[in-house]
Amino acid sequence: MRHDHLITSKQLSREDIETVLDRAAEIAAEPEAVAGTYEGTLLGLLFYEPSTRTKMSFETAMKRLGGDVVDMGAVESSSVSKGETLADTVRVIEGYTDALVLRHPREGAATMASEFVDVPLINAGDGAGHHPTQTLLDLYTIRENAGLDDLTIGIMGDLKYGRTVHSLAYALTNFDTTQHFISPTSLQLPREVVYDLHQRGTSIKEHEDLAAVLETLDVLYVTRIQQERFPDKEEYRKVAGQYQIDVETLEAARDELTIMHPLPRVNEIAPEVDGTEYATYFEQAHNGIPVRMALLDLFLGETDE
Ligand code: CP
Repeated sequence: MRHDHLITSKQLSREDIETVLDRAAEIAAEPEAVAGTYEGTLLGLLFYEPSTRTKMSFETAMKRLGGDVVDMGAVESSSVSKGETLADTVRVIEGYTDALVLRHPREGAATMASEFVDVPLINAGDGAGHHPTQTLLDLYTIRENAGLDDLTIGIMGDLKYGRTVHSLAYALTNFDTTQHFISPTSLQLPREVVYDLHQRGTSIKEHEDLAAVLETLDVLYVTRIQQERFPDKEEYRKVAGQYQIDVETLEAARDELTIMHPLPRVNEIAPEVDGTEYATYFEQAHNGIPVRMALLDLFLGETDE
């Protein structure tokens, strides 16, 4: 994979994606083969927004490769609270580390920050923009459970503010997929994303009702309504609680349906679904480790071709 930074899934070709997923599968099958490979390597973690999975799985991945992390910590306890700019912060921390992982509430922050550093910078989520490493672990999970070609996927919930949705939708255009988008009208995909997906020749359809497509789906990707992104909390209250699935909802689903969620969930998937054969979201979260180990391996260079 020949990229200086990983900012958005738009930059990833099918070959790039398969390189990461194949490497992740090798690492998952034989993790001891890479243990200790990156002893002495340091990964800088800059999280300006809360995270459990992304931050902890990057830390786990780096440590399982033999390296370590340097964590800026909470924004409030860093010099960001004194008014330091993002550009200055990344320029300082690149001098301490071999690669940077950045999560930031502003869309475009990762692109901007990458212009100030020479070490690889990986976007761990920029506002309502993109979350490409989540997408890579999503694709890994889809490939393991349903295959990536001849795939019919439903993506449901907050399609407007959900960065995991935007990244996944673009990445899937590299494969033979039909994408159904299910949401209230107020949370539809941004029109520029719809335009781009059409331009890339992908078959997409938009719906307000899951029942219209559920029985055709191989994968249902459920997302949380992103309360923190709503400028008007009244607008959030109007849509909160819509699009919940439970065991009754799934009576019309195919037996082979795979249900995914980037997590955290609030109430979109009832806990009773967790024990069904459909539920794949915890496996999906665990796949973050081999996938992020593969990404770090490819960016840090030992096996870059
Ligand atoms: N899926 C995801 O990005 O989770 P976190 O916000 O916990 O990192």
